[in-house]
Amino acid sequence: MKITSAVFPVAGLGTRFLPVTKAGPKEMLAIVDKPLIQYVVEEAVQAGIKQLIFVTSSNKRSIENYFDSNFELEAHLVEKNKLEVLETVRNILPKDVQAIYIRQPQPLGLGDAVWRAKGIVGNQPFAVLLADDIVDSGSDSCLASMVEAYEQTQSSILGVENVPREETSKYGIVSLDNDSKVGDATRITGIVEKPKPEDAPSTLGAAGRYILTPRIFELLERIPKGVAGEIQLTDAIAELLKIEAVYAYPFKGRRYDCGTKIGFLEATIAYALKREDLKEPLMAYMRKIIS
Ligand code: G1P
Repeated sequence: MKITSAVFPVAGLGTRFLPVTKAGPKEMLAIVDKPLIQYVVEEAVQAGIKQLIFVTSSNKRSIENYFDSNFELEAHLVEKNKLEVLETVRNILPKDVQAIYIRQPQPLGLGDAVWRAKGIVGNQPFAVLLADDIVDSGSDSCLASMVEAYEQTQSSILGVENVPREETSKYGIVSLDNDSKVGDATRITGIVEKPKPEDAPSTLGAAGRYILTPRIFELLERIPKGVAGEIQLTDAIAELLKIEAVYAYPFKGRRYDCGTKIGFLEATIAYALKREDLKEPLMAYMRKIIS
C-alpha cells in the first residue's frame, strides 16, 4: 500500500521556547524565512504524501492560516507587482495536497496526538513527522528514503540516528537484531522511551520520522501512561514489535534538533549559509565576531 497520509503532531505548548511561544506556535518559528513546519511539510510532500493531518491545539490557528490562501495579501502583492514574493506565499502546498486539522484537547503526549488521527488515516500505513526535527538531506527527502525502505519491508519503520550516550534520555532508544536486515533497514527487537545513559540498550535514537502500520492505533488505545505521565508513541511501538516486524532505518542527512535553542540556532546558520543571498554577508559577519 502507498503511504499517502502524514500526521504532524503540533499541539505541544512549546515551553522550551517561552516566552516567544506564549502567544504563537513553536512550529511557526522561522528558520531564515520559512517556518519550521514548512520544512517538514515539504519533506513529506516530496515523499508523495497527499494528506497532511495536523493535530493541533487552541494556540495554533496561525498554522491553519499559513497553509491557507491569504486573499488580501495576494491582491496587495499583485497590485504592487511583487510577483516573485507572491509565488512564495501562493504555492505553499501543491494543488493535489490537502491539509486537515484535528484537535488534541489535552496535552496527553505524542501517543495520544497520533491516536487522534485514527479516523482520518483509516486502515492504511501512514507517516508521522515531528516538526522539531528538521532533516537536511540535500535535494532528497528523508521521508522519501523511508518510504522506499517501507516498499521493501512492508513494515513499520523508524528513522534512527546515533546520539551521544549522555543524551539517550532525550530519545526513544532502540535495540536491533543485526542478523535481520532488509536493505539498509534492520529489525528492531526493543524500544524504550528516554532511558538514562546507563540503562540505554544502545545509542540509536528515534529521530522524529516514523512510518507506522494502522495496528498502532489499537495499541495506543490500550497502553498506560508512560514517561512524564504521557501516552508515549514509543510504548505503543514496543507493543507493536511483539506482533509485527518493525525496522530501524538510519537515514542519510543532517538532523537539527530544533526543539532546543542550540539546535534551532545551528539550523538557522546552516540554512542561511545555503542561501546565495545570505551566505557571503553571514560568513563575513561570523569571521568578524570570531576574530
Ligand atoms: C519525542 C519522542 C522520542 C523521540 C523524539 C525525537 O520526544 O517521544 O521517542 O526520540 O521525539 O525527537 P520529544 O522530543 O517530543 O520529547
